[in-house]
Parts: sequence; C-alpha cells; structure tokens
Amino acid sequence: MLLCGFACPGDTAIIRAIKSIARRSPFRNMTTRGGHTMSAAMTNCGHCGWVSDARGYRYETIDPLTGKSWPDMPGMLARLGHRAAAAAGFTDFHPDACLINRYVSGSRMSLHQDRDEADFDQPIVSVSLGIPATFLWGGLKRRDRPEKITLVHGDVVVWGGPDRLRYHGIATVKDDRHPLTDHARINLTFRKAH
Ligand code: SIN
Ligand code: FE2
Repeated sequence: MLLCGFACPGDTAIIRAIKSIARRSPFRNMTTRGGHTMSAAMTNCGHCGWVSDARGYRYETIDPLTGKSWPDMPGMLARLGHRAAAAAGFTDFHPDACLINRYVSGSRMSLHQDRDEADFDQPIVSVSLGIPATFLWGGLKRRDRPEKITLVHGDVVVWGGPDRLRYHGIATVKDDRHPLTDHARINLTFRKAH
C-alpha cells in the first residue's frame, strides 16, 4: 500500500532525528559477501541493525563500526512506523529495527527480498524523504518484471502478508535537490527483526 505524503507532518523532526542518529552511528557503504560495495550509504537505529559484510547479511545489536549499541529508535519514529502499518491494515506492528539508507545521484538498490527478519507475518514499512526515486516493485520471483512507482518526499510504502517477500529495489537515482535533504534521498525501513 502506498500512503502518499503520510510522513510529511513532522518531516523536519524526522530529519533532525536522523542527523542525530548519524552523529552516533555514521552512514557507511557496506560491502556484500561477494565483495561489492553498496551504493547507498546506511546506518540503523533500534534494538538491532541490518549489516552486510564478507560474512553476509544479518541483524546485529552492536554497530560494527563503533563497537557500541545502535542509537535508540526515537519514539516519534517507532510511532510513525506503527501508525503507517496500522493504516495499511497491519495492527500490532512494533518495529525493533530501522534501517536508514541514503542515496545520492547514481546510487541504486538492486532487486532483493527482505528475508533476514524472523517473522514474515510482520510487514515492512518504508518511508521516503528528500529527492524522488523510482521504486521497483517486483513479484515473488526475481525474473518477474517490476512495476515502477515514483516515490517522493513523505511517501510511505507498506508491504506484508502475501506480498511480504516480493522483490523490490530502487532504480539509479537522478540528481535533484530537496530543501530538507539537499541532494539526497533518505529511506527508512521499519522492521520487526527479532
Ligand atoms: C530497501 O529495500 O531496504 C530500501 C528501499 C528504498 O530505499 O526505498
Ligand atoms: Fe528491501
């Protein structure tokens, strides 16, 4: 479900919270098991955070960059994730992880499934901020041709139930400018990881 503009009220507070998180756990370009460097820079907040390195993908309670816990998920962000899930019909969503992705011109995210979480009955809530991007909404098989959906500042996408394991990604981002994020797109994905 696409909730257009759902995150617009409070957007400046969200950006402020992300800046504060990134001062404690900085954005970094993670590597994959195959040795590729991901083009979106990432950090996390919440009890656990998603990490990728030579050992593969997983959730960790400690930020490998700082050796400390990930920054707490601000209540305002946890409530946003909860409210968006509820608006899409998923009650009782209490995220324990929020992956924060930062894209600049040329960044992309190839088609993938979100399958590192423990319980696929819990949805994914994705919040887009800053410059626009084309969301690729695929099928349950990697080869299914994805639908292209433009996501702009404040848009929230929620997927779950029979669509929980749909392939998805972000097409190469084009340069643009937004008053709150300058030349970047910030995406938050709220997840129940454990
Ligand atoms: C993700 O799939 O984790 C991020 C998607 C997005 O940036 O919109
Ligand atoms: Fe994803």
